[in-house]
Amino acid sequence: MAKDDMQELYDRVLFSHQDIVDATKEVARKIENDYAGKNPLVIGALKGAVFFMTDLLKEASLLCEIDFIDVSSYGNSTTSSGKIRIDKDVQRDLTGRDILIVEDIVDTGYTLKFMKDLFLERGAKSVKCAVLLDKEARRATDIKADYIGRACPDEFVVGYGLDFAGKYRNVDFIGVPKDKYIKELG
Ligand code: IMP
Repeated sequence: MAKDDMQELYDRVLFSHQDIVDATKEVARKIENDYAGKNPLVIGALKGAVFFMTDLLKEASLLCEIDFIDVSSYGNSTTSSGKIRIDKDVQRDLTGRDILIVEDIVDTGYTLKFMKDLFLERGAKSVKCAVLLDKEARRATDIKADYIGRACPDEFVVGYGLDFAGKYRNVDFIGVPKDKYIKELG
């Protein structure tokens, strides 16, 4: 898709590519410090976290292993239902491991809470979470990410892993779609 066609979706940019690079570096410095001498299993939440996770781990000086999980809340709307299902599970044994979940955004918090509880139930020694964006105003659980890239206003945001009906994940900034497109999502 041509760059101009991609940009047609957007009303405005919230986080430029440079903002994202800076936020990623800040989080990388914290995790490389906190996990020095450990061998964490970094688990990316597919599909949105792929972009943040790869940039974060390339930036951080960190001896680690990686795995992925794909969980989704039922339905395909702009709001989470709180009912989470596993579409693709992790492959590693989590017993005794220090787990670092990487997420694109924490919104209601249902997804992160589900993953944290699941990994602890499976015997993880510790479970923390690094998230690029924190939409705290919409939190419906008592969960909080341990490493936060940027606070996000209460808006539906798209780009850099965050999708609009499955697309636009490969945009290198994060912005808010025009109202007419958000209404299409329902
Ligand atoms: P939560 O369970 O409500 O915290 O939502 C987590 C998931 O919902 C994220 O991993 C995203 O996949 C998706 N999500 C939440 N807010 C947005 C948004 O503004 N844009 C795109 N996806 C979002």
